[in-house]
Amino acid sequence: MGDAIEKSLRDIRGKRDVSFFDLYSIDQVSDTDLGLIFEIARGFRSAKTAKLTLCKGNTQVNCFFEPSTRTQASFDLSAKHLGMDTTNVGGGSSSAKKGESFIDTVETLDAYNARTLVIRSSEAGVAEIAARHVAASVLNAGDGWHEHPTQGLLDALTMLDCIQADTLAGKTVLIVGDVVHSRVFGSLVRVLIRLQATIRIAAPITLLPAEVEQFGVTLFTDVEKALVGTDFVYTLRVQEERGAKGFIPTLREYSKTFGISEWRLDLAAKDAILMHPGPVIRDIDVHSALVSRHPQSRILTQVENGMAIRKALLWLLCERFDGKTKTFERI
Ligand code: NCD
Repeated sequence: MGDAIEKSLRDIRGKRDVSFFDLYSIDQVSDTDLGLIFEIARGFRSAKTAKLTLCKGNTQVNCFFEPSTRTQASFDLSAKHLGMDTTNVGGGSSSAKKGESFIDTVETLDAYNARTLVIRSSEAGVAEIAARHVAASVLNAGDGWHEHPTQGLLDALTMLDCIQADTLAGKTVLIVGDVVHSRVFGSLVRVLIRLQATIRIAAPITLLPAEVEQFGVTLFTDVEKALVGTDFVYTLRVQEERGAKGFIPTLREYSKTFGISEWRLDLAAKDAILMHPGPVIRDIDVHSALVSRHPQSRILTQVENGMAIRKALLWLLCERFDGKTKTFERI
């Protein structure tokens, strides 16, 4: 069965390739890349948990310096389903705690001849820096408040599949919540622009990044007005660990004014889709009844699509690896 799946994935891919060796920002992904990634991801999604050999013999190091449930599990399982060996370092177990520099840590991990190095860090820009220092293909699993490109891609795939289209032209996406601290926003807004969505943002003024209008978004401080006519409602967590509580009066007040409840969701377009990158803080970002089993919620579909997108990227980058090693110069 694996052989037939692999053949169909190879047929989908044909001779096409993405234009990047590392992925730290959506800005690196061309329009052609986007189409290819989505097409291959759909193929992987239909393969579910099939044990494949497309990346057999390759090693992946997952380097998570910040907590993660879905992103880490998803990168790890995706690599395993593709036949890779994986190891997890970071957090309390890494030598960074003993004073080793970030570059020394990633160069050490690269010396295991890993093909892919997945990095999550509280510092913006580190995945891009790492990519310049290692032969492995670096995938950004979230850097500070900057970007989380695989999340942006899985969100876009989820939206496109809901409307069965290749673009989001004519659709309105409302992003609600702690935008200023959100790397999810950083990637989502970039991919939504590319897919021609109309983008609205609703947040307390204190949770908006300076110059957010440069993305061509419409700002609202009244979420109820923002919801009217919206096709997708994308909610973001209030990031307490990044000090968000200092930007709002209280969590209760936030939930009362911006939390998405059932009656508020009814203000959006008929059958509007509710999304959240997780982890959801129930009854603060989103009312409990809307979280997982509500017919308009696609929160668990997002998780499933995360596996498909990551498998697509790992396979595409594993096969481009030789290209990177040829151009790579140790600095
Ligand atoms: C997000 C993250 O860690 O950037 N979650 C995720 O990766 N799915 C968002 C968050 O923590 O709120």
